Amino acid sequence: MRVSVIGCGHLGAPHAVAMAELGHEVIGVELDADKCRALSTGAAPFYEAEFPELLAKHVGSGRLRFTTDLARAAEFAELHFLAVGTPLREDGRTYDTRYLTGVLESLVPMLREPCTIVGKSTITIGTVAALQQIIDARAETDGIDLVWNPEFLREGHAIQDSLSPDRIVVGLSSTAAQKAMEEVYAPILARGVEMIVTTPATAEMIKSAANSFLCVKISYINALAEACGLIDADVNAVAHAIGIDERIGHAGMRPGIGYGGGCLPKDIAAFSHRLGQLGAGRAQALLESVQDINSARVAGAVDLIEQAYGGLLAGVPVAFLGASFKAGTSDLRYSPALALADRLTAHGARPVIYDPQAVAGVRQLRPDLICADVVEGALTGAEVVVIATEWPQFTRDAKLPAKAGALARGRVLVDVRNAVEADPWLANGWHVWQLGRPAQHPECDPVPASACR
Ligand SMILES: NC(=O)c1ccc[n+]([C@@H]2O[C@H](COP(=O)([O-])OP(=O)(O)OC[C@H]3O[C@@H](n4cnc5c(N)ncnc54)[C@H](O)[C@@H]3O)[C@@H](O)[C@H]2O)c1
Repeated sequence: MRVSVIGCGHLGAPHAVAMAELGHEVIGVELDADKCRALSTGAAPFYEAEFPELLAKHVGSGRLRFTTDLARAAEFAELHFLAVGTPLREDGRTYDTRYLTGVLESLVPMLREPCTIVGKSTITIGTVAALQQIIDARAETDGIDLVWNPEFLREGHAIQDSLSPDRIVVGLSSTAAQKAMEEVYAPILARGVEMIVTTPATAEMIKSAANSFLCVKISYINALAEACGLIDADVNAVAHAIGIDERIGHAGMRPGIGYGGGCLPKDIAAFSHRLGQLGAGRAQALLESVQDINSARVAGAVDLIEQAYGGLLAGVPVAFLGASFKAGTSDLRYSPALALADRLTAHGARPVIYDPQAVAGVRQLRPDLICADVVEGALTGAEVVVIATEWPQFTRDAKLPAKAGALARGRVLVDVRNAVEADPWLANGWHVWQLGRPAQHPECDPVPASACR
């Protein structure tokens, strides 16, 4: 098929690449001229596994092009994916849909042939009905169908999840639209992936419900971590043991400093507010508690770092490993790691940030923070090492504890993602602190961390 993808950010650019990989002719429309230029030359504007290779492949083959000109997409494509952003408004609880409405107001009058418009951006309940009114008011031809096809990809796995999704949800109102969706996703459906065909309102509900449930799981285990901290229990053991029950599962059950990124924080805020508007007060109250638990994580992490250091953090150099909101992406939106760096700075500590993919982004976004280009730059002279994003370079590299030991002044490791394998650190004389777990001390050195400096 000839498809367009309008809005080529963290969702749209991998989706455009995946559509080309499925065999479609694709035109990506991106308003940001710098991003569009980079994509056109096959250069990835952000870090995402497998993305650079497939982008270069399909830009090179000519099957994938990018433009800033919406009219080219209107003329070219028989199916248009909408992947523009839906950030929160300043009120912090409703989506700003101006990018979606702006695209439709421009695109619809340009359309000369029947076609399908497929929204992938995340919206709240009732938005499709409002967008349909724009189409009804502006269409100059019949046969323009609007479908809502929420996206469930995980950043860091965007290509894999776009090419092999675990399900496809389409909210639609015509058989022509259903046929178009079956055609565009045909290679995926042929592998037996389920396509759930439903109404637009149900599709809106499914996406909001899915993201909010992920937040519920994360906050549940984080609340248990707080409780474990009160009784010297081990939350990692709790998560492992309860997760063996397949009704609970292990996914999303690792304690840490909370969810972040460009999706979950805004989606749960918008959904809980909308539930309140609709009169679903108990569901709203549940999701508000989930958000409260999440908001308290960063303060809890500062308390743990102070406890591990054994004193106030004023003037203390901290090797701060990680800045992106999770491992596998350079995305810094609503990053709990950056929020923690800020909170430490407010306590007078001196964090030096290193992240394998996000340092350039931090420098651009937050020139006030101190960054290092290599991990050694952050470690040198540090009294405390904080692992703030669970990159395998920090959690699985058995050589890091010795390297850190040679460069740092202290032997205090605080892992606020509960992802580190402690043994190599303990073997190198480090004291290891994690959220909701008893501290672990090196066997050969039973001296408390505070006496090790
Ligand atoms: N990032 C994800 O993993 C993910 C997953 C599922 C759903 N979503 C949803 O997808 C939507 C996009 O999210 P994102 O993370 O990709 O945001 P993003 O900010 O990374 O990308 C949005 C892009 O749209 C571009 N844009 C804005 N107006 C435009 C216009 N008129 N024409 C062309 N381009 C335009 C922006 O310049 C930007 O590059 C949001 O609703 C988000 O909630 C994102």
